[in-house]
Amino acid sequence: MSPAWNTPVLPAAAAALALALAACAGGARLPPPPPQTFSAAEIEKGAELAKLADCQGCHTADGGQAFAGGRPLNSPFGTIYTRNITPDPRTGLGRYSREAFIRALRRGVRFDGAELYPAMPYDHFAYADDEDLGALYAYLMTRRPKDQPPTPNKLIPPANIRGAVAIWKALFFHPGRFQPTPGRSAAFNRGAYLVQSLGHCGACHTPHNFLDAEETSKPLQGGVQEGWYAPPLNALSPASVPWTPEHVYSFLRTGFDRDHSAAAGPMGSVVRELARAPEADVRALSVYLATLMQPSPAAKGAARPADHVAQAAAAQPAGARLYAGACAACHDAGAAMMREGRPPLQFATPPQEDRPTDVVQVILHGLQPATGPRGPYMPAFAGTLSDAQVADVAAYVRARYSDRPPWKDLASAVAKARRQGGEG
Ligand code: HEC
Ligand code: HEC
Ligand code: HEC
Repeated sequence: MSPAWNTPVLPAAAAALALALAACAGGARLPPPPPQTFSAAEIEKGAELAKLADCQGCHTADGGQAFAGGRPLNSPFGTIYTRNITPDPRTGLGRYSREAFIRALRRGVRFDGAELYPAMPYDHFAYADDEDLGALYAYLMTRRPKDQPPTPNKLIPPANIRGAVAIWKALFFHPGRFQPTPGRSAAFNRGAYLVQSLGHCGACHTPHNFLDAEETSKPLQGGVQEGWYAPPLNALSPASVPWTPEHVYSFLRTGFDRDHSAAAGPMGSVVRELARAPEADVRALSVYLATLMQPSPAAKGAARPADHVAQAAAAQPAGARLYAGACAACHDAGAAMMREGRPPLQFATPPQEDRPTDVVQVILHGLQPATGPRGPYMPAFAGTLSDAQVADVAAYVRARYSDRPPWKDLASAVAKARRQGGEG
């Protein structure tokens, strides 16, 4: 027998082993701690982090109780419904110990050991530190519980088999730890941490492969999500006006920037949460993103974008007529809205993007104010314009407000956008 067995190492080792086993499999079986064990400071911190991570946006159904789940998410494999993360002991987080919760967010494993679908962005949450995840747990465990069983998913085979996620994970899920960049400011590194971890910005802004995994070699290079295009947030940014930290801050905080445009589609729900997140964190995000976008063509001092009104009317006469009737009353110089200091459309990024997706979606679905009734509003034209008319007006917007070549396949882009819908 080794001498070690006679020393107090044994109970310590046994305890460590028991803990490790608990963390691997049975951690969920530990009862969750009573709510009064969480400190007010921890709960407050968790509340702030939950906004940055948009837990509520994804985990709340339209008209449902906050965090009780049931919101449908579209994926290439069908519809998946979010789950109840209120502290309910039968159907919610009441079944999770702190360890089981951290394992779920970091490794995508449910309280009972089942795999979680990557529609839950644990490939990002894996980069969050224990303290932040613990604070999220404290916050969620002190919300009002709701007995809300899951809505069954509508997934196609083999995605309908939960166990198949293990194969997906073996192929694509290899998270590391967050690495700060030496020599950069604290704000830059805080922003980098938030973007990569809880902010999960790459879930939309990074391209995805055919199995819907992020192409981690192309971080923030632009991706498609929920029928919208989330443009690149690095040197590839197609923005026609440079993004400075002040401009990014204004956009993320209020959903609108005077030198660009308004947050549209799924970015609207991100902004709704960021509007209430800690100011210092939103500043950190802005410093980091503005640095990433620094070498973009716009930032290198390209000329202010021009309004090619005459050429566009000649090139796209049908689109020009529709625009005059449906859009000019708001968007042309002299319109009441423009006199309030709104940006002309050549400052907005969508007309510059290499695909028509966002211009088409904005025309079809309009814009709802992201941060309050006084925010920017644009009506939806899905009910008044035909597919061909949407394509014509989008072609005109491209010709008038950008220097780039006409979009190809506009008709099919419009048909696709109509099929997929798009949250305003
Ligand atoms: C982009 C949408 C999205 C966001 C943002 C999101 N989740 Fe989820 N989450 C999901 C989906 C979808 C599922 C269901 C996955 C499944 O059934 O395999 C899920 C499942 C979970 C589960 C497992 C529930 C169970 O027992 O079935 C937990 C715990 C969880 N999320 C916590 C969080 C927390 C905490 C946050 C914020 C830090 C968060 N989620 C943010 C989409 C999201
Ligand atoms: C659910 C998908 C989604 C997530 C998550 C998301 N975005 Fe976006 N984002 C979009 C879409 C779609 C657009 C383009 C729509 C528009 O014109 O506003 C966009 C636009 C932007 C823009 C404007 C870029 C430009 O040049 O006009 C910025 C900046 C931005 N997002 C930052 C972020 C940050 C920071 C995060 C993480 C905290 C984030 N986004 C997370 C979908 C998303
Ligand atoms: C009632 C006023 C109104 C009408 C009508 C209107 N818009 Fe808008 N549009 C807005 C507002 C407000 C914004 C947000 C930017 C701003 O506040 O300047 C916007 C933004 C946009 C954007 C940029 C979106 C983004 O994500 O950056 C495009 C493109 C656009 N509109 C195209 C059109 C087209 C094409 C039409 C006609 C089919 C049209 N708009 C009609 C008010 C309007």
